Amino acid sequence: MTLREVRWQDIPALAELERSLFGAEAWSEPTWWAELAQRPRRSYTALATGDVITAYGGLDHGGEVADIMTVAVAPGQQGRGTGTRVVRHLMAEARERGARHLMLEVRADNLPAQRLYERMGFGLVRTRRRYYQPDDVDALVMRVDLERGAATPGAATENAAATKENRHE
Ligand SMILES: CC(C)(COP(=O)(O)OP(=O)(O)OC[C@H]1O[C@@H](n2cnc3c(N)ncnc32)[C@H](O)[C@@H]1OP(=O)(O)O)[C@@H](O)C(=O)NCCC(=O)NCCS
Repeated sequence: MTLREVRWQDIPALAELERSLFGAEAWSEPTWWAELAQRPRRSYTALATGDVITAYGGLDHGGEVADIMTVAVAPGQQGRGTGTRVVRHLMAEARERGARHLMLEVRADNLPAQRLYERMGFGLVRTRRRYYQPDDVDALVMRVDLERGAATPGAATENAAATKENRHE
């Protein structure tokens, strides 16, 4: 399995994985087309053997502050360090593209994802009350200082291009 850039041909497989992982919030094929069309501002990476994708993740590069757009590991492949590998790659890529801070949003009820991000140095910035509808679930905004590898203290500018409508976290 290697990390490689997501390709247009991956879209059907990605949409299928989305349906199995995210239910009502799954990105459809048109959403993936729109996301990939925004490269190089967006970048998407797959962990794959040929066309078979085990995990993927994506970034929005907004200058000093980058945003994680999505992170996902196929059902049955979780709990083996794969998600950690993908997040580590996203952090390195954001740093290489010049970001100092990396942000994300995660559902308050998604404890496995929160534990992973905390292990990688992300800290809570704020809570957005009842952000995920119709589930009525809060969003936790998390951030890491890519230079220090630790949670960023104080306020940081948010990246308006990574909006609620177009990301999972
Ligand atoms: C959240 C998600 C990305 C995590 O991916 P993952 O591959 O399961 O993550 P990891 O394996 O790196 O870490 C998960 C756990 O497995 C443990 N683990 C890591 N390597 C392991 C190994 N070789 N053997 C056993 N356990 C291992 C980790 O310690 C971690 O434990 P924790 O529960 O105490 O945190 C994945 O569960 C997922 O895709 N969920 C659905 C989509 C989603 O919620 N995406 C995130 C949106 S914000």
